[in-house]
Amino acid sequence: MPLIRRLGGDEGVAALVDQLSARVKADPLMGPYFRDVDEAALNRHRSMFLSALLGGQHSYTGKTVAEAHGPFRLGDAEFDAFLRVMRETLEAADVPAVDRRTVLRRLSRLRADIVSRGVSVAPGAPVFGGPESSG
Ligand code: HEM
Repeated sequence: MPLIRRLGGDEGVAALVDQLSARVKADPLMGPYFRDVDEAALNRHRSMFLSALLGGQHSYTGKTVAEAHGPFRLGDAEFDAFLRVMRETLEAADVPAVDRRTVLRRLSRLRADIVSRGVSVAPGAPVFGGPESSG
C-alpha cells in the first residue's frame, strides 16, 4: 500500500494538517507568525502541498514555498520547530516510525527554500544589514 494510502489518503493528510495547525499556532516561536493569517485558506494550501509532496491526488497551485516564506526571513530555529511539531503531530496520530521518517525527510529537503536567515528574528523585530545598509 502506498504511503499516501497508509496516511489515510488526502482526507488523512487534511486531518493531519488541522492537528499540525493547532500545534503550530500554540507554539511560542511559530505562533506569532500566524496572527493575521486566514487559517482555513492556509490549511487548504498546506493540505494541497503535502498531498502533492506525498503522492496524493492534489497538485499544488499556491505560491512557491520560497515566495510564501521569504518575507518572514525565517531562521533555522523556526524551521526546526516546524519539523518538531510535525513529528509530534505524526506521533499523536499513530503514524508508524518508518512513515514519519519519510514525511520528515521530504519536508526537511525544503529547508533551503524556507530559511532565508541563519539566525531567528522575532516577527516585527527590526532587521539590520539588508542590501540598503552600508555596514
Ligand atoms: C517544511 C516546512 C514548511 C512547509 C512545507 C510550509 C508550507 C506552507 C504552505 C504550502 C503555505 C501556503 C502558501 C500559500 O498560501 O500560497 C505556507 C504559508 C505560510 N507559512 Fe509555511 N511552511 C513551512 C514552514 C513554516 C515555518 C517554519 C513558518 C514560521 C514559523 C511558516 C509560516 C508560514 C506563514 C506565516 C504562512 C502564510 C503566508 C501568507 O499567508 O502569505 N511556515 N506554508
